[in-house]
Amino acid sequence: MIEALGYVGVTSGKLEEWESFGARWLGLQLVEKSASSLRFRMDDRKQRVIVTGARDAPAGDHGREHDQFFGWEVRDAAALDALAGRLEGKGVQVARVSRAIADARRVRDAITFRDPAGHVLEAFHGAEVADTAFVPGKPISGFRTGALGMGHVVLRVKNLQPMIRFYQDTLGFKLSDFALTPFVAYFFHTNPRHHSIALIKSDRDAIHHLMVEMCSLDDVGQTYDLALAEPGRIGTTLGRHTNDHVTSFYATTPSDFMMECGWGGRTLDVANWQPHEMHYGTSLWGHERTWLPPDKMAEAHALRAKAAADAQREPLQVMPGNHVMSHGVCPWWDKVKANAGKG
Ligand SMILES: [Fe+2]
Repeated sequence: MIEALGYVGVTSGKLEEWESFGARWLGLQLVEKSASSLRFRMDDRKQRVIVTGARDAPAGDHGREHDQFFGWEVRDAAALDALAGRLEGKGVQVARVSRAIADARRVRDAITFRDPAGHVLEAFHGAEVADTAFVPGKPISGFRTGALGMGHVVLRVKNLQPMIRFYQDTLGFKLSDFALTPFVAYFFHTNPRHHSIALIKSDRDAIHHLMVEMCSLDDVGQTYDLALAEPGRIGTTLGRHTNDHVTSFYATTPSDFMMECGWGGRTLDVANWQPHEMHYGTSLWGHERTWLPPDKMAEAHALRAKAAADAQREPLQVMPGNHVMSHGVCPWWDKVKANAGKG
């Protein structure tokens, strides 16, 4: 029903910092700047990230954090109507957005509702495509989006069960996998991207991070260099995820959540995917999480040491155009490959 994460709306009192972070640091294209908002592109769409000044944000009944919004894309008007009907049938309050809001989102039509934790969600169809080429805010190859959506969002969640039920049963997301250590996390897909949303057990409801996927590993590495030069910019060090196979690091943003800059995400065979528990935590290596308490950090170290001791590794996930096959004869490696998977 929902096809992809289409856009994200951030509310922040730090517009100047967001302008610099979004464009010059991350490589989004700033397409519009006013006294109260910033609008960024990251691909062919007219906009993907909207940052609204905190003073202009409507006062939400859950506080400022929840006035941020996530735009979930559906196929067409019929799918939007069907989703609205399904939500109403489950007792969720739904409203059609005004023409002015739909225009501001650069979509044909949208509905708005909240998840059980109070996050503002929108579902939309008919995103406008720009008639000019995407020009990144710094020289990067670009972001991997298209049918996979703009990336993923991970939420901290106080009360997991109602949120899992809502995203799975009401919105139709499918479970990809889950981890119970070093923290409890559930990952959900709605297209071949391994997860478009994940829920992490926490003591509060908030955004944990957004993830964007760059087309080149070097873009991630060079952005990591920028982060290394700035005290406090790195929230999670460079590492590789066990489940979506992304190589990434997490940066602090001007808001109270992180931005994961990644590369090399796997695509799932959605029709045949079987959800499972992850026994090695969420990272094959790296990803030192500065935000974990010491006992959980020690647990994460132990899990990564176990992953290494058990020779857990995954093939790189590459897109056409960003890799070259290596040539050369290596009988030893050929034998390793031939034996791989035999037991
Ligand atoms: Fe992530």
